[in-house]
Amino acid sequence: MKFGPETFGELNAEDYDALHDPGTTDESVELIAEIAAGRRTLELAIGTGRLALPLAATGLEVHGIEGSPLMVAKLREKPGGDTVPVTIGDFADVDADGTFGHVFLAFNTLFNLTSQADQVRCFANVAKRLEPGGTFLVETFVPDAERTRSDQSLRAMKVGFKSVWLEAAIHDPVEQVIEFQRMRITEQGVRLVPLVMRYAWPAEIDLMANLAGLQLKHRWGGWRKEPFTADSRMHVSVYEKSVPVA
Ligand SMILES: C[S@@+](CC[C@H](N)C(=O)[O-])C[C@H]1O[C@@H](n2cnc3c(N)ncnc32)[C@H](O)[C@@H]1O
Repeated sequence: MKFGPETFGELNAEDYDALHDPGTTDESVELIAEIAAGRRTLELAIGTGRLALPLAATGLEVHGIEGSPLMVAKLREKPGGDTVPVTIGDFADVDADGTFGHVFLAFNTLFNLTSQADQVRCFANVAKRLEPGGTFLVETFVPDAERTRSDQSLRAMKVGFKSVWLEAAIHDPVEQVIEFQRMRITEQGVRLVPLVMRYAWPAEIDLMANLAGLQLKHRWGGWRKEPFTADSRMHVSVYEKSVPVA
């Protein structure tokens, strides 16, 4: 399954806001604003502006990178959407103007880079764009050890009177890649919405950060700074670029 930076938007932009609400936007905005602390901020994969627009509304200078012009078109339609500078491109390149005090990458989107090499490249390029003392916040799920033991799955996501949404997945444990096919079956027909994710464990993400010269400063099990434990299903991790000793 071949996924480019624009593919997610081509498949999802039309109904992204309606179908992809993680239910954590308010607390995410609060924590990102606290960590950004008024510094120039960049969101990788800004999407339709779910986080960037409320952050910009607080007075924070927020820039974005996004692979899908269709997602950015949705952002532009919203109040304040014409004021956020967005570069169209692959977020692994982190090709935006200038340097930033804070960069963030939310909602498992690191895993939309479908190889370890691209994820490592992303961290290296973020480090180049960060000012000394700058921070990089990453939110991803913690891979489910039980699920990653099987090489395939099929599950019902939503069952209605005249519709059913199914999700089939093939798992490659060597590359840590899961290919999903979501099937929305209605009386009108079948809509296919594929997705590829290359998952990484928190320790591997820390190593990518370390290779780029970033150190883990905080790890929480949720946006409300819940402790990160063996039971945590997701993590919000903040990495810091050190300040050179004079
Ligand atoms: C799950 S959405 C997250 C959007 C937004 N950050 C949010 O939290 O609502 C993933 C986003 O990543 C973008 N994307 C995926 N791969 C990309 C890539 N390689 N370069 C740039 N954008 C990419 C998609 O177009 C989509 O907007």
